[in-house]
Amino acid sequence: MAPLKNILRVVILLLLFTVNALAQKQTVDLMPLPKNYSLEEGSFVIRKDLIISVIGEYDDRIEKEATRFLRRLDEKTGLFFHQFQVEGKVPNATFEIFVDRPGKLDLHEAEDYSLTVSPDKISLSATTDIGAIRGLETLLQLVQVEDQQYVFPAIQIEDEPRFTWRGLMMDVSRHYMPLGVIFRNMDAMAAVKLNTLHLHLSDDQGFRFETKAFPELIKEASEGNYYSREDLEEILVYAHQRGIRVIPEIDVPGHATAMLVAFPELGSKDTTYILEQHAGIFDPTLDPTNEEVYTFLETLFAEIATVFPNPIFHIGGDENNGKHWDANPDIQAFKKKHKLKTNHEVQTHFNLRLQQMLNKLGKRMMGWEEIMTDKLEKTAIIHSWRGDWEGIPPKTSLYNAARSGYETVLSNGYYLDLMQPASAHYAVDPISPDADLTAAEKERILGGEMCMWSELVVPETIDSRLWPRGAAIAERLWSPGEVNDVADMYRRLPIISHELEQLSLEHKTARAVILRKLAQGHDVEPLQTLVEVVEPMKGYTRNPGGTMYAMHSPFLLWADAARPDAPVAREFNEKVKAYVKRETNKDELLVILNKWKANHAKMLPIIQDSPVLVSIKDMSANFSALAETAIKTISYLEAEQIPEADWLKDSHALLEASKENGGRTELQILQGVKLLVDQLEVTAK
Ligand code: ACM
Repeated sequence: MAPLKNILRVVILLLLFTVNALAQKQTVDLMPLPKNYSLEEGSFVIRKDLIISVIGEYDDRIEKEATRFLRRLDEKTGLFFHQFQVEGKVPNATFEIFVDRPGKLDLHEAEDYSLTVSPDKISLSATTDIGAIRGLETLLQLVQVEDQQYVFPAIQIEDEPRFTWRGLMMDVSRHYMPLGVIFRNMDAMAAVKLNTLHLHLSDDQGFRFETKAFPELIKEASEGNYYSREDLEEILVYAHQRGIRVIPEIDVPGHATAMLVAFPELGSKDTTYILEQHAGIFDPTLDPTNEEVYTFLETLFAEIATVFPNPIFHIGGDENNGKHWDANPDIQAFKKKHKLKTNHEVQTHFNLRLQQMLNKLGKRMMGWEEIMTDKLEKTAIIHSWRGDWEGIPPKTSLYNAARSGYETVLSNGYYLDLMQPASAHYAVDPISPDADLTAAEKERILGGEMCMWSELVVPETIDSRLWPRGAAIAERLWSPGEVNDVADMYRRLPIISHELEQLSLEHKTARAVILRKLAQGHDVEPLQTLVEVVEPMKGYTRNPGGTMYAMHSPFLLWADAARPDAPVAREFNEKVKAYVKRETNKDELLVILNKWKANHAKMLPIIQDSPVLVSIKDMSANFSALAETAIKTISYLEAEQIPEADWLKDSHALLEASKENGGRTELQILQGVKLLVDQLEVTAK
């Protein structure tokens, strides 16, 4: 019996070891998370003789992307790969990519892939080369170090997107974004599997598309910042390469000041138009009764249609306040004659003409939700954006559009300019589990699109407004709806943020440049300590009435160094929660708080030499005072002592005063400090 017992013991030990090893490896750091995955035993050691072979029918972008994959992998690992060119089938390949057919950048195109990493081979199979590109991004995120070697863990992944529209809208009108900015952000998009770049090319503040037909537009309305045809060609090639469709938007009939600067005769008011410098909703509107408007748009749209190959064309259509229509007797007479009761009906008349125009050009009309009526052809795509701040329940237009037979895309909840935390965006699901929609209606919800409105954003700061929060939205749109563990999202967010930095994104680094400028030769550390716990003012509060800032205002100051969803503040607030629940002791908190308490004294000489920082002087003082209050609170709690009533009163007054913004930012540690003080009161009772 003894030998059998021993064997059994060994088997049990081995089993326990295996189960334990597997349990440790059951989480992956991928973002977005795949639909299905299972980690297996062992790993594939990445060596410099890694050879990639592409097999099947495909668009040759997969060869280029596989080459780019190798370059990125050798930068990650420091290996000097033997192979740098990937062309078709190669003998002795250790990494095989199988593709069934070339992919198209159309809606509902297959982006699925399956990836198998075993200790001696990697196999990536996809219906299209676009799916294979998505799989390459997954594989790159899997690189790990094991026993002093770089490896891919053995894994089995079956993946495909939940939604076919996973977009990013870049407003390049309010602030022009140079090509480099667009390129690096397309790299980031591809890394998190976004597939739609929507360029908001015209608005009240600038027209950015070089038309050959109307050179006046860029001459009069772009201040020299526009995309030439060659620029757009480069953008399109770059996007195609990464499996990203590009959708142009020309916003009409409202948001049209820039066009009217060049062509005032197309406006609804007889006036001289000047390029808008502020943010907001403005009156200039195209005249829907003027045939020249349609001739102009027909020519303009035809030109844009030849440049952008995608069949979808966005005509804007949002926020037409109708003031110039109401004030124009000819438009009023037109309204009467055509029995159009409201301005919305006038706009529908206009939109119907545009839809016909686009139909002839072989394009599908897309527009912000205001375009929706039951009169449009159902080929129109409704872009849902309004919500709480307009007193409208979120997704009202999304669900209405789907119920009315329109395909639709959600942006409400994905406005990155509002400076909300990633968790707020992550919670927004285009199809909530309890959505009262039929299967066919759900099918019409194409997905979502994050919006980067750029009134307060410049090329140096756009990355930090997009990333890493955009990755959380990308996951919402790619991964199954059940992937919704906020803590795990926040665990993975810094990891993907680090990955994105390796693609030359400046979301982490741009801050240091601003702080060095503000520090005027002083050590930046005290500024860094404070900026890590503040966030830019949220919603539309930073720029009240749209007029505090103009497009030419400085945008590389304190608030621009601040980032939304400040992790240091969030982690502090979480640590306080754990402390009051007695899950952790005081030590870690005290280390942080003592550093913060000492910070204001270090800030004073910097502020003295940097006049622009006077606006944060009070905030800096409050920050250190809050830290001092928190330390004192902890000592009361630890000693189970009750403070004097005056002390509590002063603490509340300080918490109240600390709500005041400084340098257009808000302190984010109030929640944690308040929780401590409240705990003291609970204990006192
Ligand atoms: C919008 O935010 N006006 C579409």
